[in-house]
Parts: sequence; structure tokens; C-alpha cells
Amino acid sequence: MKELFNRLSSIEGRDFLEVDDLLSEELDAVVRLAVAAKADFSLLEGCLKGRCIGLLFEKPSTRTRVSLAAGISRLGGSAIFLDPNELQLTRGETLEDTGRVLDRYLDALAARVMDHHTLVTLAAAMERPVLNALSDRSHPMQALADVMTLREVGAGSVAYVGDGNNVATSLMLASTMLGLDARIATPPSRCLDPAVVKRCETYAKATGGAFLHTFEPSEAVQGAEAVYTDVWVSMGAEADAEEARSQLGPYALTPELYRLAADGAVIMHCLPMHRDEEIASELADSPHSVIFDQAENRMHAQNALLSAVLGGVSQRR
Ligand code: CP
Ligand code: NVA
Repeated sequence: MKELFNRLSSIEGRDFLEVDDLLSEELDAVVRLAVAAKADFSLLEGCLKGRCIGLLFEKPSTRTRVSLAAGISRLGGSAIFLDPNELQLTRGETLEDTGRVLDRYLDALAARVMDHHTLVTLAAAMERPVLNALSDRSHPMQALADVMTLREVGAGSVAYVGDGNNVATSLMLASTMLGLDARIATPPSRCLDPAVVKRCETYAKATGGAFLHTFEPSEAVQGAEAVYTDVWVSMGAEADAEEARSQLGPYALTPELYRLAADGAVIMHCLPMHRDEEIASELADSPHSVIFDQAENRMHAQNALLSAVLGGVSQRR
């Protein structure tokens, strides 16, 4: 454990806006700590004692909100929820000034934002770590739990089908950074950002993993040990709902598509899901579904991350 704590000391004080704000080795260490602390809670007990973490949510949340607050409380810290509608932001105080003030009270800020640039602005205004709790661009906290879950079940490959959205972006980055065989199938009009594709290709090359971006769901799913999907209409993209649904029909995770995966492939979804839209309800409830373990892992993965970022871990070296 000492070796793991040593490896995590480099993360102390850093922002976490994208999954590859971490190096591959650091990501691996966070996941290893998350798995270890899930099995033995005492490893991280008291790691956030006396720490105060702000939780700012511009969009709804069940898992991220509760897993962060519960995790922080279990590790001895306290969480303060910040509703942007109740801040002076609504009356014209700038984001920069808000960040500078929060910096004087908090040990870290986790924020879920409409526009990723809000996180970038807050991170520039604050000395304390800023953590991305979902933006229109990425969802790195989700990806931590995703790769943790893949590791728990021993899956070496993961196929994502659906919208090339924030969750897909962070999942593909994290998977290639850890040397997995990562595949994604999206409609041509909803593919990953080309810059993200490049980063995934670079990571796959460096880690001995693989990366495939295709428009053909069967090509992605063929032989995969884990299959993954997300909603077709993300928060903030409701105006585009009709078009999304018309394009994403062939990318639904159906029993027919699932049959192409490896025998016993696990079924994943970040939740919330729309049953019988992007995922067949019978798959979500099948014995191969790890969807609710994945949801539980949000807390374990974030606990490991926060303990490393806020230095609780480095004090145990
Ligand atoms: N997966 C996820 O981030 O869920 P919430 O939107 O409920 O936080
Ligand atoms: N892509 C979804 C994920 C929700 C956790 C969204 O942004 O709404």
C-alpha cells in the first residue's frame, strides 16, 4: 500500500477537468486504490478529516451528487452544496470573482456545468483543486468508476454504442490510457471530437491497448467483453432530441446486438437510463448487467480521487 500511496502523492493539489489530466500511471493508481478501499474501508478512513468541499451543480444529478456527499462524509470531511441560482452569480457577480472567494473557504470544488469553459474559468480563478463533476464535454469522474468496474470484472475490452457524448469521451480516454481494447460506434454526425480520437489513438499506442471508432455497432461489439451505452439526449441537448432519436435508433443496445459480444460480456450504463430506448430493459436487468455495481463504484472511485487530491493519502506514506 505504501508504494501506491507514494505514486498518488503527485496528484495532490491538482485539478481534474479531464481524465487525462492524470498520467496513465496516476489513473491506474487511483483505480487500484479505489478497488482496495472498496474491500477495506479503513484504508481511507479519516482521509478528508477537517476538509470542506464545495459541490456546485448547474444540472440535475442523483449519483454524482449523493456519491460525492456520502463519500466525503464517510471519509470525515464535509460537503457544501452550492445551487448556482442561490449565488450572487444570478445578480451579475462574475465567475472569476466567485471562484476567488470560494477559494478562501473551501479545500476543493467539484462542479457540474453546462459549459466546460465554466470549469476552466473556475480552475484559473482558484488555487484549490477544481474537479469536473460532468460538463458538456466530458465526465471524468464517471470514467474512473467505469474503468474500476471493468477492472473488477476483468474485462480487457469495452464497446460503447450510441451518442459520442461526454461519457463516451471520458470512457474511451480512460480505457485507452489503461491499455484496454476500446471500441466506439456512433452515427457519423455524432462521433467523438477528432482531437479526442487522436488522444485515444496515442494512448492506445503507448499502453499497448487498441482503439477503434466505427459507425457500425456490430463491428464495435463483436467479441467485446463489456458493452456500454448512454442516453441519446444529454442534459442541455434537449432541443436536439428529435434529431438524436432519429439518428440513434440503430445504435440501441438490444439483445440482438449483445449476442455479438463475448460470452458472458458485462453490460454497462452510466445511468440514468431510458429503458427500452438506448438499452433493452431485459439487458439492464440481466445477470450480466453490472450497471448498479458501476453506480456504487462512483463513490469508491471518487473517494480515492479526493483522498489523493486533498493529500490525505500522502500523509499515510
Ligand atoms: N452517471 C451520473 O453522473 O449520474 P447523475 O447524473 O445522477 O449524477
Ligand atoms: N450524457 C449524459 C450523462 C448523464 C450522467 C448527460 O450529459 O446528460
